[in-house]
Amino acid sequence: MKIIQITDTHFSPSKPHFNGNWAPLLTWIEAQNADLIVHTGDLTVDGADKAEDITFSMDLMRQATAPMLIVPGNHDVGHLPGSDQPVNAERLQRWRALSGADRFVEDSQAWRLVGINALLLGHGDDEEEAQFEWLRTAFEQRNGRRLALFSHKPLFVDAPDEGDTGYWGVRPAQRQRLFDLIAAHDVALFASGHLHWAWQGEYKETSLTWGPSAAFVIDTMEREMPGERIVGAVVHEFGSELRSQIVAIPGMTAHVIDGIIHEIYPKAVRKDAAE
Ligand SMILES: [Fe+2]
Ligand SMILES: [Fe+2]
Repeated sequence: MKIIQITDTHFSPSKPHFNGNWAPLLTWIEAQNADLIVHTGDLTVDGADKAEDITFSMDLMRQATAPMLIVPGNHDVGHLPGSDQPVNAERLQRWRALSGADRFVEDSQAWRLVGINALLLGHGDDEEEAQFEWLRTAFEQRNGRRLALFSHKPLFVDAPDEGDTGYWGVRPAQRQRLFDLIAAHDVALFASGHLHWAWQGEYKETSLTWGPSAAFVIDTMEREMPGERIVGAVVHEFGSELRSQIVAIPGMTAHVIDGIIHEIYPKAVRKDAAE
């Protein structure tokens, strides 16, 4: 089974800066003859507040021939409590109405693929608990299948035992709950997006993959992270073994966000200036 992972496409009809990467990405996807595509979130520039960003991005996604499973990113459904756009009932409802469920479970032969809404993590509310309960059940009912887990946010950025990385990784308490579930089951892969850095590593027996954004890289406006500054996608081959390969795709442009952040995410600029 061959799965293409794409992530952080950041498409929008009103902020079209990255839309031009879809044509070369779609051409490459179609040539791959994959069984499935997984999008690990941030489809949109601002689906958290603009329905048209979600409908525009979903229309593009439907141009792919292979079936696509999607989990949302922070720019699609919002982020942590206290952020500019916290996840709330309105944002979740908008996403679910326009894009579909915010988590998935899909079985194929010896594998069970599970996608979670990582933006629920850190709220400590009923939505977060319901998802943990759903995830535990999905793992417990895998019936001998190996597991691959897809999420917008990575488990951690620099180290499994690091503290709260704020915007970037899963918070320590929620990360520990995921670690406990991963330890109790046969989780071969944890694949994520969000960081706009492409990297592969491992946590104990689990392979970790940070998929490259299909839109932009970050130069110096955020701290250096592990991995490479490329735009592209990931090919995951699920057989008796798992093989994951990060791919830079010909014809796609590695936009650099630093010089255009004031056009794309002006609130992020204002907050930086105030800090
Ligand atoms: Fe992103
Ligand atoms: Fe993100």
